[in-house]
Amino acid sequence: MVFPTSIDQLTHAVLNASGADVEPRKRVIIESLIRHLHGLVSEVNLTLDELLAACRFLVDAGKISTGGRDEFVLIANILGVEVLVDMISHGPESQTAILGPMYRSEAPRLPTGANISRVRAPGEVQVFVEGYVTDVAGLPVNGATLEVWQASTNGLYDNEDPEQPDMNLRGLFETDAKGYYAFRCLRPTPYPIPDDGPGGRLLRILHRHPMRPAHIHFIVSAPARQPVISQLYDSDCKYIDNDSIFAVKPSLVLDFEPDNGTHGTDRYVRCDWRLPDANPQA
Ligand code: BEZ
Ligand code: FE
Repeated sequence: MVFPTSIDQLTHAVLNASGADVEPRKRVIIESLIRHLHGLVSEVNLTLDELLAACRFLVDAGKISTGGRDEFVLIANILGVEVLVDMISHGPESQTAILGPMYRSEAPRLPTGANISRVRAPGEVQVFVEGYVTDVAGLPVNGATLEVWQASTNGLYDNEDPEQPDMNLRGLFETDAKGYYAFRCLRPTPYPIPDDGPGGRLLRILHRHPMRPAHIHFIVSAPARQPVISQLYDSDCKYIDNDSIFAVKPSLVLDFEPDNGTHGTDRYVRCDWRLPDANPQA
């Protein structure tokens, strides 16, 4: 029997302990995790107290992750990991952005032009959002689905706020034969990501603020096409180049123009979406 007597030998012993038939992708990921974790611990000379504090941090993240809250996704966001995954998966030129933890499936299906706001929000400014969904060749996509969601003017999504009706500020729209869609919503306002748990502790340790620039979330999808998970940003927001989770892409920053009475709202924004063909391997 050989016992590891050096850091390298220990790392190799842990790597070599796995069985022969581990599912290949899981082997790649977990072995890389082991190598990087061992590297990190060695690089910073981690103490036992620091290791136990890190474990407590993860336990606390688990404890607070109830009732729709997911602190681990939040921490991944704070550390830029979800944006990194998006960049690697779709490249910097794509229209994609991170999903974030506030998505809820089963938003109500609404007619073109409907308002996703079910109650008047204090200080609300209404926006008319419209645009066209096309394929990469620019041809209209008929019957594409757009799921949209946003926080209210108090910075909370419906699932975080008992004062809001269920599914407030969420809607599902469909394009017509020209690929056209439209809806009304609130002009989005900047808001803090939840910072009353371990994610907030991490921000404070790093002397960082929790604010996200004003945005509206989208998932645009259609049969035989890759869905685009995205966010549309208001160019006028003071946090536009200082997002707490690094998710802003220049191509998603748009001007919310005065509506001038055209749609009966205060502001107007046009946002077109291009849906790539379905991934042939999928
Ligand atoms: C959001 O944009 O909804 C969001 C993203 C990351 C953390 C929390 C919220
Ligand atoms: Fe959001």
